Amino acid sequence: MADALRLGVAGLGTVGASVIRLLESNGAQIALRCRRPVQVTAVSARDRARDRGVDISAMTWHDDPCALAASDAIDVFVELIGGDNGPAEASVRAALSHGKHVVTANKALLARHGVSLAQLAEENGVSLNFEAAIAGGIPIVKTLREALVGNRVTRVAGILNGTCNYILTRMETEGISFEACLADAQRLGYAEADPSFDIEGNDTAHKLALLTSLAFGCEIDVDSIYLEGITSITTADIEAADELGYRIKLLGIAQRTDTGIEQRVHPTMVPKSSAIARIDGVLNAVAVDADYVGEIVLVGPGAGGNATASSVVADIADIARGDLMSTLGSPAEKLVPYKRARMRRHEGGYFIRLAVEDRPGAFAAIARCMAEQGISLESIVQRRRAPRSAAPETPDSPAPSQAQPVILITYETTEADIKAALEAIANEHVIAGAPQMIRIERTPDVA
Ligand code: HSE
Repeated sequence: MADALRLGVAGLGTVGASVIRLLESNGAQIALRCRRPVQVTAVSARDRARDRGVDISAMTWHDDPCALAASDAIDVFVELIGGDNGPAEASVRAALSHGKHVVTANKALLARHGVSLAQLAEENGVSLNFEAAIAGGIPIVKTLREALVGNRVTRVAGILNGTCNYILTRMETEGISFEACLADAQRLGYAEADPSFDIEGNDTAHKLALLTSLAFGCEIDVDSIYLEGITSITTADIEAADELGYRIKLLGIAQRTDTGIEQRVHPTMVPKSSAIARIDGVLNAVAVDADYVGEIVLVGPGAGGNATASSVVADIADIARGDLMSTLGSPAEKLVPYKRARMRRHEGGYFIRLAVEDRPGAFAAIARCMAEQGISLESIVQRRRAPRSAAPETPDSPAPSQAQPVILITYETTEADIKAALEAIANEHVIAGAPQMIRIERTPDVA
């Protein structure tokens, strides 16, 4: 059997400890399949004394991850520190520059610096693998980079953040408040250190930016992603969606259009019958549409130490076997610039929830504003309003005008037209508060 592949692991949090545990418990099988043993020989973390439930006494300790990355005693640097700059970036660059392969779970780092790091890896003839950075335990990087290598991908869409899916699922099934669900997700270890990254959609955007590059052979452009999180979603939206046959999911979507590639992250109404609608709790799912294979959907755990360690070890095994691939599927210098399709040209159906003033002509004004933008309505639902106050009306204190919830579902239209219609409706002074607008995905892979 060949010499052992020597690993240096930087970052010994939940994932780092799981990687060490996995390599110990399944080491014989991994050695057989890779035709060589794989061993963690050195580690680096902030606190040497902390009990992580794994034995690191035989491993060389480094206080400085960059020193570990440059060490001649390792073949692969496993970066599990996190963050898009600082020690994570410095140590990954150090490892690649010293001719070490790198395995990372760091989506933020790659979303910011993925192309330049891929170039550095290629210049040094080493791998930079990142399966664990997207959707935790789901092998979507392998799927796009290897299994679908012969296909032309037209669309990738997924539930890429377990925290958001957990919150939306519990709000729907148990009627629990957004805040309580978020607190539970944090307690269970799904949420990012700063949970605003989850609920505002940034975490999904980081993963989507990488998927876009892998799927379409373009450079990574995280700043061009249209981004809306889930903080505006209320139980009223979830209930209305349910009545109309939809569920609300935070999706990351990248798709080819006539004008470029759309990249968007936003709450999305998907038909209850779709595969994506049935993904509950902390699970992730990724749907890929490609010309020869058609549609495939991968489902699995998107977070958690063991699931993420599974992907980290898969990347290590590729290196152990000598399967070296371009980080982003195509050689870094062959990636084409990302051509953005403007969000205003996005086409789709829309769910609109309005609080409409209860007076003659209000509905007519709304219908006119929609018609003037050429928008056709699939359904209009006027929901039950709260009963009027029992207090008698007098000339000095007329009953206040009451707003009643009205839900509109549009046929396909453009983002520009729906925005113009909503602005016109606001100018008619027939609604109270701001309208809620949620995009609907009816395309085949979610229908
Ligand atoms: N905070 C992330 C999630 C963890 O909730 O999915 C994995 O990136």
